[in-house]
Amino acid sequence: MRRAASLNGTMTVELREALAALGAESAFEVLAPHWEESVASIPAGTPAFLSPATFLESRAFCEAPSEADPVLIEAARRVRENPALLHLAWHCQRLLFDYRDYDASEVRHWPDLAEALGDLSGVFYLLVALSAIPRMRAHDARQGIPEAVTRNGSRRVPETMRSFAERHAGRRGVRPGTLPWLRHHVWGDLYRPGRLEYMARPFRGRLRAFRHRVTGEVIALSEADVVFNAEGYVDSGALAEAPGERWTARLVEDERAVTGSPIAPTGRAIRREVTLSRAEWACVLARTDPVLDIHIPDGGGMTPERCRDSMNQAQRFFPRHFPERPFVAFSCISWIMNPQIAEFYTPTSNMVLLQNEGYLFPCPSNGKAGLGFIFGTEQVDPATAPRDTSLRRAMLDHLAAGKPLRSGGMFVLKEDLVHYGAQHYRRRAPGS
Ligand SMILES: CC(C)(COP(=O)(O)OP(=O)(O)OC[C@H]1O[C@@H](n2cnc3c(N)ncnc32)[C@H](O)[C@@H]1OP(=O)(O)O)[C@@H](O)C(=O)NCCC(=O)NCCS
Repeated sequence: MRRAASLNGTMTVELREALAALGAESAFEVLAPHWEESVASIPAGTPAFLSPATFLESRAFCEAPSEADPVLIEAARRVRENPALLHLAWHCQRLLFDYRDYDASEVRHWPDLAEALGDLSGVFYLLVALSAIPRMRAHDARQGIPEAVTRNGSRRVPETMRSFAERHAGRRGVRPGTLPWLRHHVWGDLYRPGRLEYMARPFRGRLRAFRHRVTGEVIALSEADVVFNAEGYVDSGALAEAPGERWTARLVEDERAVTGSPIAPTGRAIRREVTLSRAEWACVLARTDPVLDIHIPDGGGMTPERCRDSMNQAQRFFPRHFPERPFVAFSCISWIMNPQIAEFYTPTSNMVLLQNEGYLFPCPSNGKAGLGFIFGTEQVDPATAPRDTSLRRAMLDHLAAGKPLRSGGMFVLKEDLVHYGAQHYRRRAPGS
């Protein structure tokens, strides 16, 4: 491969030639941003993330299996010895973690490198993933974050290795498309105290929640102009809902009262209106209010005890470490908050037990919610997809019956976390 002297005297490597040498020319557009800066900044010796001392320590830190060590060592050797791979690896970790302007959605189009690395192509991206860990550790140590929380977050790497192995005959590696999530960890946006992950974000639910000033009861009203189907789920037009059964919520406010359609804590809008007097009811949550968005890492075992413990930890963690990120509630928008899971799977599943502790609300959905997480793709044929777990079987049977897999939302107001375990919102819904 041609190397030419650049203005500052270092050697440049042309991206087009590097990709041609790797049989990956088609990835030129997605890898072109910031290439020259990467070439100019590559260190003279081995970049730290490609030295075994560094990546093996990171592998151990995130508790990925040590059986991965031989392939990591072999892949890193081949990358160090091949200028095209070396520059590409350096560039990939910089694009991911140094350039916030780089579009995360491009990462899934990064080349598979099978021509250059054969079965080790996924390990190339595993090395890039492991390069996140020293960055996370340095960032979190500066913030005084307990190492256990950083380690918990770093488990994202072995989790993505597991899903890669499932889809690639047990091989080690990660898919490029899973790498951008690590940005949240490296940039200090996302933390995992216990079983769940949290990110301070504006609330996205299209509702207003009100608390009774005396009794403490909570009721949510839909925002205006949200379109619902007859069952009270959001009809976003993406699903072939029966026409004629749709209805549109109103929300009418003045200084004395608010009138609108309530959302039952079990997650459906109700087609009637209630009026709440402002003297009695205070608005406690609205769209864009700051909340802790909950993300649910892969791995099952999401028991009520672990969820409660994690949310309690988060309630202490954020004020202590990020007092500049206030929040009024926890919120989660996910396929896991689909109220129909209790019907098509089981009312005693951990997912439903978590739902029971929050106030559910309807969200737009494409009808395939959760398939990507549970089958690795949204293109699932119920006749041929794997049926090896009870959850997979339940989702497939639901789809085979022609029913959509919806998304749902949930919130828990910060002050109500003390009631976790009591199904607080369901038991204390006005009129219940
Ligand atoms: C969400 C999740 C953590 C729920 O776990 P849980 O309710 O505690 O699940 P359990 O450990 O009780 O397992 C219940 C069943 O589901 C199966 N299961 C759990 N996670 C699974 C997964 N990722 N893929 C396939 N099956 C899964 C289990 O094997 C078990 O099946 P079995 O009865 O045949 O043994 C789990 O589904 C998961 O890991 N999902 C992937 C991550 C995800 O979807 N995150 C949300 C992003 S918005």
